[in-house]
Amino acid sequence: MAFDLEAFAETSEPVGWDDLDFDTFETQPLDENTLRSLRYMCDVEFHTSCYLRDMLVTPSHREEDAGDFMTVWNREEFWHGEALAAVLQRHGIVVDYDELKSKRVKLGWQQALSPLKQSVLSSLAGTDFVAVHMTWGAANELSAVAAYRRLAAMNDHPALTPLLKRIAQQETRHVAFYTTQARERLEGSEKARAVTRLALAKAWRPVGSGIMPETEIVHVMGHLFSGRREDLEGLDRRVQRLPGLQELTIFRTALTRMGIAI
Ligand SMILES: [Fe+2]
Ligand SMILES: [Fe+2]
Repeated sequence: MAFDLEAFAETSEPVGWDDLDFDTFETQPLDENTLRSLRYMCDVEFHTSCYLRDMLVTPSHREEDAGDFMTVWNREEFWHGEALAAVLQRHGIVVDYDELKSKRVKLGWQQALSPLKQSVLSSLAGTDFVAVHMTWGAANELSAVAAYRRLAAMNDHPALTPLLKRIAQQETRHVAFYTTQARERLEGSEKARAVTRLALAKAWRPVGSGIMPETEIVHVMGHLFSGRREDLEGLDRRVQRLPGLQELTIFRTALTRMGIAI
C-alpha cells in the first residue's frame, strides 16, 4: 500500500485535548510509575524535534519524500510532547521544551544512533543509509504505537486514556510511512537488506537509548512490557515482514538484554 504524503501533510493537526477534562487529574491523579513513564515519553517526543536539524544533513534529506515527511512528522512529535507536558504539569512536573532543547541540541540524532554509527553507519553509501534509517524509524514508530496503546489500556482514566489513544493514532501514520519506505528500499537492494539486518540485529535499542538515563529506559520498558511477550512478539513479527528481516527479534532481544522478564 502506498503512503499518501500529500494527504498526510494536509490532515496533520495537533493532538487536541481541549475537549478532555484535565481537572480530572485533580480527583484522579496518575500513579508514580505512570508519571515516570510519561515523563520519559514526553522527553523523547520533544527530543525528536531537537534533532531534525541533524537529520537534514543526512542522505535521507536528499530523498524528496523523506525530507517532506520529516518536516510534518517532526511537528507531530512535538505536539505529542506538548500534550504529555500538559498532563505532567497537572501533577506539578514541569518539562520545558526550550530548556530541553538547549541542553540536547548538541546531542543530536547521531547520538541516538551512536551504537549504530560506531558499527556501520559511517561506512554506508547514501541509499543504504536511507534503508537503515527508514527501517530503524519503522521499528521506533511501531514501539511508540505499542507503548501508547499499552499505557492507555493500563489506565482507565477519563482524560489520559483518550489522549494516549489520539497520540497512538498519529503514530500509526508514522509507522505507515516508515514501513512503506523501508520496504521499497529493502526490496530494491540486496546490500541494503544485509546492512539493515546487521544494523538492527546488532544495534537497535528502545527509543530514547543514548539520550535518556539507562535507569529510565529500564523503568519504562519494564512498566509497559514486562510479562507482555505476546505484544513483543507481535512487534517483532511486523519487522520480520520487511524484506530480508525474517527471524529478527529486536524487541524481545532488547528487553531481555535489559533484564526485563517478558
Ligand atoms: Fe510521538
Ligand atoms: Fe512517531
